[in-house]
Amino acid sequence: MDQIVITGGRRLQGAVTISGSKNGTLPLLAATMLVEGESVIENVPDIDDVRTMLQMLESLGVRSRFIAPGVLAIDASHLRSTEAPYQLVRKMRGSFYVAGALLARTGHAEVPLPGGCVIGSRPVDFHIQGFKALGAEVVEEAGIMKARARRLRGARIYLDPRLRSVGATINIMLAAALAEGTTIIESASREPEVVCCAEYLRECGANLSGIGSSTLVIRGVERLHGCRFHSIPDRMEAGTFMYAVGATGGSVVLEAVRPDQLTSVIDTLQAAGVTVGYGDDWIKVTRGERPGAVDAMTAPYPGYPTDLQPNHGVMAAVARGTSIIEETIFDARFNYTDELARMGANIKVVGRAAIIKGVPQLSGAPVEATDIRAGAALVLAGLAAEGVTEITGTEFIDRGYERFVDKLRPLGAQISRCAVENRGAECWV
Ligand code: EPU
Repeated sequence: MDQIVITGGRRLQGAVTISGSKNGTLPLLAATMLVEGESVIENVPDIDDVRTMLQMLESLGVRSRFIAPGVLAIDASHLRSTEAPYQLVRKMRGSFYVAGALLARTGHAEVPLPGGCVIGSRPVDFHIQGFKALGAEVVEEAGIMKARARRLRGARIYLDPRLRSVGATINIMLAAALAEGTTIIESASREPEVVCCAEYLRECGANLSGIGSSTLVIRGVERLHGCRFHSIPDRMEAGTFMYAVGATGGSVVLEAVRPDQLTSVIDTLQAAGVTVGYGDDWIKVTRGERPGAVDAMTAPYPGYPTDLQPNHGVMAAVARGTSIIEETIFDARFNYTDELARMGANIKVVGRAAIIKGVPQLSGAPVEATDIRAGAALVLAGLAAEGVTEITGTEFIDRGYERFVDKLRPLGAQISRCAVENRGAECWV
């Protein structure tokens, strides 16, 4: 078991290159199962969730190999199974994307239901509703979704406009790509990760329109061919580094980013008095004085992203004044606040809102990460705090952040990683 050890209070300075997107790349990898032939996916992040997805695909017969760092050649010409193993699905919710792809390509999919998650209840009823609308027979037996269809048929599908599910939009889009006839997804999610997957499918010969809008139109085709495709930069990793500066102070340039996909985050940081400048593919974040308090409410894209809400909580914890954060997407995404309170933050959670009264200084403490984004937020809190913070639960951070510690150290962070039992002179900071 590893832990991350941080001596906080150092301003961050320098430049960091943002990796490929976790939530953009996972659907791409599933989408390659629709394709007969090889695709080359560039900008694949070196993170545990990608490794899990590749193991899952391998178990189904997909062959893949890295031909250069971050460049994956992947070929699903010879699928050999349509049953996803529980041991892999339980690790990661994104693995449920194989359901739509398998169903479209082979007419059969057996995928264990992913179950709940520490950030809240995460059903897949919209996904299943979509598969049924496309003509699949779906049953649930012993915790496994079993779906069958001779060939899926296009349909008009309305998703819940209040929730706008990213996962259901992608899974239905994957299933519809090879269906007979036209599928229209109303209230589709507009997230850049959905757009990324749609553009990959289009490059492979799929017929899609309305990409990036809330009405996606998919005219099914007989087959798809491989292509070369560059995955999008990780806007959540980018946002995390932006908030690292917001919470800690300093000046950092983010490279290989898409500022146009981070508008709500840039606006929120600017409202807190953080200086944010940007060009086509870079963002510079500078913070001198303590940030001001700013309220935030999570919402589907282009609204403020739930995945960055815990980071906003950290900045608010050291801001001048009181901020209110409303979480509208997941019902248990304030788990990190108890750990933050142990570092001296003044936070009260009332239902779906957190009221955070900023304090001049957090203080280091041993804390535990319980999910990917809570883990990143605790790292930020450790960077901003006075004294030493030891973070356990690093396996969550590894799921979604490529070399997080290695990227922070050149920015001046006093941060290291070590096995808990070996926490000796060589890794103590
Ligand atoms: N929902 C349903 N039924 C469904 C699907 C979703 O009720 O069938 C509800 C969810 O419970 C939630 C809301 O709809 O309240 C939105 O969920 P969505 O389906 O959009 O989330 P997701 O696809 O499961 C992805 C990301 C999450 C990110 C959310 C929201 C991946 C692998 N996961 O999840 O990322 O928070 O969209 O943007 O892409 C993370 O990276 O740490 C992470 C949790």
